[in-house]
Amino acid sequence: MALARSAKVGLVVVGPEAPLVAGVADACRSAGIAVFGPNAAAAELEGSKGFTKDLCAAAGIPTAAYVRANGAEQALAELSRFSLPVVVKADGLAAGKGVTVAETREEAGAAIADIDNAPLVIEEFLRGEEASLFALVDGETAVPLASAQDHKRVGDRDTGPNTGGMGAYSPARVLTPELEGRAMAEIVLPTVRAMAARGTPFSGVLYAGLMLTDEGPKLIEYNVRFGDPECEAIMPRMEGDLAELLLAVATGRLGEIDPPELSHETAVTVVLAAQGYPGTPRKGCLVDGIEAAEQVEGVTVFQAGTARHGSGALLSAGGRVLAVTARGPTLAEARARAYRAVDAIDFADGFCRRDIGWRELAREGA
Ligand code: AMP
Ligand code: GLY
Repeated sequence: MALARSAKVGLVVVGPEAPLVAGVADACRSAGIAVFGPNAAAAELEGSKGFTKDLCAAAGIPTAAYVRANGAEQALAELSRFSLPVVVKADGLAAGKGVTVAETREEAGAAIADIDNAPLVIEEFLRGEEASLFALVDGETAVPLASAQDHKRVGDRDTGPNTGGMGAYSPARVLTPELEGRAMAEIVLPTVRAMAARGTPFSGVLYAGLMLTDEGPKLIEYNVRFGDPECEAIMPRMEGDLAELLLAVATGRLGEIDPPELSHETAVTVVLAAQGYPGTPRKGCLVDGIEAAEQVEGVTVFQAGTARHGSGALLSAGGRVLAVTARGPTLAEARARAYRAVDAIDFADGFCRRDIGWRELAREGA
């Protein structure tokens, strides 16, 4: 806060969920510093799955049927009310690791035992394709920004353990204008109104993880931030002044400005991860060729888990090391550019998925 004041910072953008849940935006607001991101009370939309489920139930927002349980004994007693598969979730922040889709009652029981007597949510399993909708919200007004589709599993064709995300593309055309309209009207807007009505208005970007079911879009979960790697696929499509847009959100003026402008091109992001991820990644491996990769048309390489060695060399320093994004007139072209750029990067210890965008390409018959 002292740094923000002394540098006369005009806008603070809080990225990850943990500082939002811990109240960093509240601290900025009390210090009179414009901040993009929800207060702690509104960050509960991501911080507590139980909170969000109760809010949805009260406001009639479509989501999976659920029960909240406080500890294993209660959870096991409730389990029999659900058919299989069933979804078991830790209530609090779990960095994407707190969710089990259980095919058997034994597996569900083990997931419940794993959560170790903390609050949890048991949910009905929803069928359909997933897509994410990002909406900007200034407490009162909400406007759709973009859609995207993440690739959570580590391996091609969605196999292997869950990760923070191995790649994304935007827009996700499976979320048609009609479905996006429904998701705004039936999910996002009622949430924004309910949050305002309880005295905890939401301000920032609301990331709605949706299941597109036969009955329409249903909410799987909210995040209160731009997703990673979804953000790297959305930002290169932004055409207006991003700072002005985020400042309008921060100062409650979203209704007074033009809606966000995004390119109709598709952007594809491929994550280059270090061997070992999503477990313990190997670090300290040489990463080279970023400049060559950025020579490919439409490509931007975002660095995530990198560190500069004293010698000037770039080394891997985390699980997800680079996010390679390419824009293109079609998903197929954007993806071809992204992989051309990936192949120009020299990172012996790295790996990536080779099938980002496969669902949409399969739908297009490409
Ligand atoms: P979450 O952290 O709540 O987004 O859950 C992680 C992933 O688990 C989601 O992206 C879905 O793939 C899956 N998932 C969560 N809840 C459900 C549900 N009710 N039905 C089907 N899949 C789910
Ligand atoms: N890629 C998923 C997330 O950021 O939550």
